[in-house]
Amino acid sequence: MKTVLNRDMHEHIPEMLPVIPTMDVVVFPHMIVPLLVLDEKIIKGINQSLQEAKLVLLLAAKKQINSNEGIATKDLYAIGTVASIMRLIKIPEGGIKILVQGICKANAHDIIASDDSLQATISKVESNDQSNKEHIQAHIKNIKSLAEKMAISGNTFSPDFHIILSKMQDPEKIADFILSHLNLGIEQAQQLLEIDDQAELLEHLYRNLAKEMEVADMQEKIRNNARDSMNKAQKEFYLREQMRAIKKELGEDDVEEIDTMRQKLETLAAPEDVKVEVRRHINRLEKTSPDSMEAAVIRNHLEWIFGLPWQIFTIDNLDIEHAKKVLDEEHYGLKEIKERILDFISIRKLKTDGYAPILCFVGPPGTGKTSLGQSIARSLGRAYARISLGGVKDEAEIRGHRRTYVGAMPGRFVQAIKKAATSNPVVVIDELDKIGSDFRGDPSAAMLEVLDPQQNKTFYDNYLGIPFDLSKVMFIATANSIETISEPLRDRMEIIDVSGYTHEEKLNIAKIHLLKKAINDTGITAHDGLISDELITDLIINYTKESGVRQLERILRKLCSKAARVFVERNEIITFEKDNVQHYLGPRKFLEDELDKEDQIGISNGLAWTAYGGEMIKIEAVLMPGKGKLILTGQLGDVMKESAQAALSYARSHTQQFNIDNKLFINYDIHIHVPAGGVPKDGPSAGITMLTAILSVLTQRPINAHYAMTGELNLRGEVMPIGGVKEKILAAKRNKVDHVILPYKNRHDLTGIEEIAQDIGIIWVQHADEVLHYVLMPLGQEKKTEAVAKAA
Ligand SMILES: Nc1ncnc2c1ncn2[C@@H]1O[C@H](COP(=O)(O)OP(=O)(O)OP(=O)(O)O)[C@@H](O)[C@H]1O
Ligand SMILES: [Mg+2]
Repeated sequence: MKTVLNRDMHEHIPEMLPVIPTMDVVVFPHMIVPLLVLDEKIIKGINQSLQEAKLVLLLAAKKQINSNEGIATKDLYAIGTVASIMRLIKIPEGGIKILVQGICKANAHDIIASDDSLQATISKVESNDQSNKEHIQAHIKNIKSLAEKMAISGNTFSPDFHIILSKMQDPEKIADFILSHLNLGIEQAQQLLEIDDQAELLEHLYRNLAKEMEVADMQEKIRNNARDSMNKAQKEFYLREQMRAIKKELGEDDVEEIDTMRQKLETLAAPEDVKVEVRRHINRLEKTSPDSMEAAVIRNHLEWIFGLPWQIFTIDNLDIEHAKKVLDEEHYGLKEIKERILDFISIRKLKTDGYAPILCFVGPPGTGKTSLGQSIARSLGRAYARISLGGVKDEAEIRGHRRTYVGAMPGRFVQAIKKAATSNPVVVIDELDKIGSDFRGDPSAAMLEVLDPQQNKTFYDNYLGIPFDLSKVMFIATANSIETISEPLRDRMEIIDVSGYTHEEKLNIAKIHLLKKAINDTGITAHDGLISDELITDLIINYTKESGVRQLERILRKLCSKAARVFVERNEIITFEKDNVQHYLGPRKFLEDELDKEDQIGISNGLAWTAYGGEMIKIEAVLMPGKGKLILTGQLGDVMKESAQAALSYARSHTQQFNIDNKLFINYDIHIHVPAGGVPKDGPSAGITMLTAILSVLTQRPINAHYAMTGELNLRGEVMPIGGVKEKILAAKRNKVDHVILPYKNRHDLTGIEEIAQDIGIIWVQHADEVLHYVLMPLGQEKKTEAVAKAA
């Protein structure tokens, strides 16, 4: 209820008025405000004023006045509002409540505070009406249009605000009206009060209104967002419940399964982005019919993800002594590899995230590469998994099939990790050299990613569709030959050569490891002296011909199972001897063949180096009537063909030296055959062997069969170095030749492995003449072969 006072009633304002300090409000002219007054001194002033003009001066306090300190005049603003007292009510508990209405602005010149009063001398502040009328009108227009906008957005004031304002014309009234609606702080309000100029005041009011609207809109927006997200969650929940009900009705009840999956997801130790992805798939699963094909695919996929050992690691056993023990316990020899593993453990001990090499063991079959990988895992206390890449042509084998494809599976690496059940197993990548490639992509390119420490941290399997960290895995690759491994792949690994074993090494391996394993596996515990060392040597020499010990292991197992059979059937413990072993294993396969040791024309012993270790190959040459052609058979590669050609040219250019009739090159063809015709062969290292065979047929001088040789030949007759010296010497020993002819330039290859050359004569040669000196025997010391005899 407002009492509107006629302003003219107070044309005359006294020069001195009692002061009422206002704490949290600035009263503007025309504004009606209730005030609570507790201070005795001020109540006194009010009472006095009621007897006179009923006017007081309202001055806003700059800060909260502390009642203990009393009112300090310096805390009051100097410009205030003269107000008339409209009503006064005494409050029973003490103090009074008054209703005041602002009349005009006034300046307090002197504030006089005595013990029982607070008064001020004042002068009225006249409002400045000089401002431009157009200016004022423009501001009013702005204010009105803003008010309209506010009404439309509906966030600020009630719609009445706009309606009332739109009807107002008087700038003073408009200002009052807006002031009464604004939510102003004391300081802001005081600032407005002190503005004399009407246009300026309107402008300020406009700005304040605009700000008010902005804040209100912003608030509304925040409120809406909050409400939206809540609604969405509620809606989803509701829909989900509905879906469950429908599924139940249809008898498609996979609700429990999905709940379990959600629970599992909560405890899954996977990175957050993976979990987001999994959550998405669970939601999808929920929306599909549980018996559908799609649901099966999703379920399978989720099972794979849940089945992976996220963040599960074994702690490495970095005890060097322990590692040494384990490695020696399970494998004989293999010094270099064992050393390398101990190096690795030492580095790990000093630096947990130190350089972790990817080792690649290269060597002939059956030399313990794969089984050593398992020992390494055991010595480190890590889980073990093996991946065989033999014959893998499809990139998807490595990187996984896309899930769109029926029967899709993750790649082998993810499978291995799952099997190992920890994220840091030792993974043996077997037969890396047997990896192929075809139209389905290049698996070796995918392997690059797996083996690259920069990339395998976030290895992406197409099937999983999420990254998995392979960087903690210790990869060990094995291969028989390094040749077919692509250059970039080779570059990422540390190649360690594992060569074949000598007879003595094989004997030791058999005694210490293979026989024990075979006996254990067959359960024939009480069979001491089952197989003597002498017999083992016999088995090595006459029943096997290999670089490794796989065949030997197989034979030992066979004998042990025979012993088990005899024990079970007849309760007899047998011991095997040279005499009875044939009964179980058949005749000795590689018994020295007298014919093999015969010195013949046109047959020379070459030494080759293959993925299966060293091998001795008898190269054959014959002379037959023809037109001087060179015929080469036995699946020879280009390099080998060329070296045959070079050998022939060397022979033709030295006819005088060897006493050869030049007509032989016109009327005869020379045929060179390298046996084991089905196996492709290549390389230049048979140069001197072919030369020997060619010169032998041309001169009819036999070749000494007790020599085996290897060496590249150039046209000047120099013997050039070759590879695989150790393997070749071992092959020569297996084939029981007495001497090996090797290029002089290879003599350093024997450093460190001198013991293998102990019971065989090594001849280092620089020139073809030296070779021929050793192996070409004088005429007439052999049985001539028929063809050669005729040719002669
Ligand atoms: N030095 C050794 N000490 C003990 N056992 C050995 C040794 N070398 C090989 N073996 C045994 O020989 C058998 C064959 O070895 P393994 O399978 O590891 O050969 P590999 O080098 O991986 O051959 P491949 O190249 O054909 O894969 C295994 O039972 C292994 O334990
Ligand atoms: Mg292997």
